[in-house]
Amino acid sequence: MKLLFIGDIVGRPGRDLVRRHLKALAATHGADLVIANGENAAGGAGITRDNTNELLAAGVDVITSGNHVWDKRETLEFIGAEPRLIRPANYPAGTPGLGSYVARSRTGVPVGVVNVMGRVFLHAIDDPFRVAEREIERVRNDGAQVIFVDIHAETTSEKMALGWYLDGKVAAVVGTHTHVQTADDRILPGGTAYLTDVGMTGPHDGVIGMDRVAVIARFMSGLPVRFEPATGDARLHGVAITADPITGKAIAIERISLTEEQLKTITDSASAVAS
Ligand SMILES: [Fe+2]
Repeated sequence: MKLLFIGDIVGRPGRDLVRRHLKALAATHGADLVIANGENAAGGAGITRDNTNELLAAGVDVITSGNHVWDKRETLEFIGAEPRLIRPANYPAGTPGLGSYVARSRTGVPVGVVNVMGRVFLHAIDDPFRVAEREIERVRNDGAQVIFVDIHAETTSEKMALGWYLDGKVAAVVGTHTHVQTADDRILPGGTAYLTDVGMTGPHDGVIGMDRVAVIARFMSGLPVRFEPATGDARLHGVAITADPITGKAIAIERISLTEEQLKTITDSASAVAS
């Protein structure tokens, strides 16, 4: 079975790419389930109910998040009623929403999706290693044999350490948050697909998705500067993971990095086949 994971969707430019091209891309890859990190969907920070609905309608089955998940106040209100949007599992007990979800693939296979957040240079929340193990147990008890983990973290070392820690226990450990796709995709010896960072779906002519003039101004002045999503060079970053539905181990991992032009070609040829 094939899982398609879309890297951090930033603002309208990222949402537009997903809305216009995700279905054709998923069909081209023969994806059985689509997961996406959506914590930057609302203007680069947070995710609204409307953004959530838009991504689900565009073909995303499960939305993961991270440190920006609470940037829009309404998320605290609706996340409890929308289990397909998950937040890092290592927030304290009592936090709204859940940190894992068992989705059904196109063929009805249960797939566990787990979201944890690193602690280095981020909020000091619970231990992502122990909490990831707890959530893996939870989704396994709910019938998931194939399990995907989004580790939302700042440092390569923390992500890589979690990859090794979970090797053999899940189909994939993929990092998010830094918005720059790394080239270290591999299958670890125990059968877990690993990638330090999947990258970003959104404008690449900025600084990790935001307008570069504002970011440079903040670095140079030290003063608070309001950030807006960048414009230009919209690209979709993701990863496709092929997993054995019986063993839950990965068979293949393929990084995806596509410009808007390349996505248009995929969408045009998919609609040519359909008509
Ligand atoms: Fe983040």
